Formats: sequence, structure tokens, C-alpha cells
Amino acid sequence: MTNNELIEPGDEILPGDPPRIVRYPPAVRINHWITATAMVLLILSGVAMFWPPLFFLTAIFGGGQWARFLHPWIGVILVVSFAILASRFWRGNLWLRADLDWSAHIGDLVSGHEERMPEIGKFNAGQKFVFWVMMLLILAMLASGLVIWQEYFGGMTSIPVQREALLVHWIGASLIILVLILHVYAGIWVRGSFDAMVRGWVSPGWAWRHHRLWFRRLAGRSESPGDAPV
Ligand code: HEM
Repeated sequence: MTNNELIEPGDEILPGDPPRIVRYPPAVRINHWITATAMVLLILSGVAMFWPPLFFLTAIFGGGQWARFLHPWIGVILVVSFAILASRFWRGNLWLRADLDWSAHIGDLVSGHEERMPEIGKFNAGQKFVFWVMMLLILAMLASGLVIWQEYFGGMTSIPVQREALLVHWIGASLIILVLILHVYAGIWVRGSFDAMVRGWVSPGWAWRHHRLWFRRLAGRSESPGDAPV
């Protein structure tokens, strides 16, 4: 594994007291939050159309017709925004041998003994899992969504095919909601993660504790004293 596989463009240590470790530059954060907002709006408009007791949620979009009109277009925004996000993140999320090792120690993490976990790069196995599952599910939602987008593609497929696409869309949406809950929960559970995605940087202590290999590589590159937390 080369150093570069662990470090993404923009990742750096900013000297200061205390030093700041840049994890997500501004453009990446904007890209992430557009993706997140689109996903939340899709879920809200989707469940509102799916289950009558939640129909009241269409009020957020200006009523039932607006929710139905906007839902696929927000989906298009999500797909484009996620594609940009993924073009940056896919490399850092490639599965490495170290991830197997990390996964085998997941019990230590859950029982609060993170210090026993193997050192990990910028993303851990859980984050990588979420990334790739999210990508698969978004592709499935896109494909099934196009088939059931009556306005433009309604006449192109038979009714049985559209029914199957609807089923895929519902199952995919249920799984995406679960994966999103997992993603947000992990962000809350690993304190300091939100700061990374809101203000862009983390403390040396956070980087040392949660992504030590990434921190080591960054410290080595910036020729700072390096291996110990600052
Ligand atoms: C309300 C929704 C969301 C919240 C609160 C949220 C929160 C966060 C946080 C706190 C991080 C930083 C994790 C770290 O650096 O350790 C993060 C990273 C990330 N998020 Fe989200 N996120 C949301 C939605 C989404 C969605 C919908 C996607 C994609 C479909 C997404 C994709 C990513 C990716 C690719 C990263 C990079 C690191 C990783 O794989 O965990 N997020 N998010």
C-alpha cells in the first residue's frame, strides 16, 4: 500500500496551537451536505407517497402533486451529487487486507476498547461498507425509478415490469433508510465526526484515536515530529 492511498487531496496538517487536521475541504463538505439534503427530501416525499398516514408530509413540498413532481427530480440531483462525491471517495474506500483485521476486532470497538483495534487509514471498514452499499442501492433506485417515471418513460415498459420496478424501489428505499440510520448513528457515536463534516477539520487526538494510519502518513508527509499525538 502506498502512502497516497491513505491520503486524499486537501488532507493536511495545519500548524497552530493546537494543530488542525483537515479531513474534508469546503467543496467536499458542500457536496456531502447537498447529497444528504437530497436524500432526506427523497425519503420524506417517498414515504409520504408510499403510506397514506404520512401523506401530511407532502405539505413540506407544497402538496401531493408537488411532492410527486419533485421526487424524481430530487432523485436526479441526488444521483449527480453522489456521483461527484463517489468520484472523490471511491479510492479511499477500496477494501484492504487491514480492513479484514479491523472487522475481526469489531467486538473491541463495541465494548469500548478502541485502543485494542488495529490501526486504520482514513476510512474504517464500517465506513467502507456504508459507502459501497449506498452506491449499489442508489444505482438500484435510479434504475427502478426511471422505469416508474411515468411522465417520460411510462410507455417504454410493460405493466408487469413496472410493478417489479416498484417493488425494487420500495425494498431499496427501506434498505437505504436503514443504511442512512447506521451512517448518522456512527457519526453521532464517534464524537468529533460531525465536526469533521461541518467545519472540515479534526484534532490530532481524534485522528490519532480513530484513524491512526492516516494521521501517521499525514504527519510523515508534513515532516512534523510525527508518530505521537501532538
Ligand atoms: C442526514 C444525513 C447525513 C448525515 C448527518 C451525515 C453525516 C456524516 C458525517 C458526520 C461524516 C463524517 C464521518 C467521518 O469523517 O468519520 C460523513 C461522511 C460521509 N458521508 Fe454522510 N451524512 C449524511 C448523509 C449522507 C448520504 C445520504 C451519503 C451518500 C449517499 C453520505 C455519504 C458520506 C460519505 C461518502 C462520507 C465519507 C466518509 C464515510 O464513508 O463515512 N452521507 N457523513
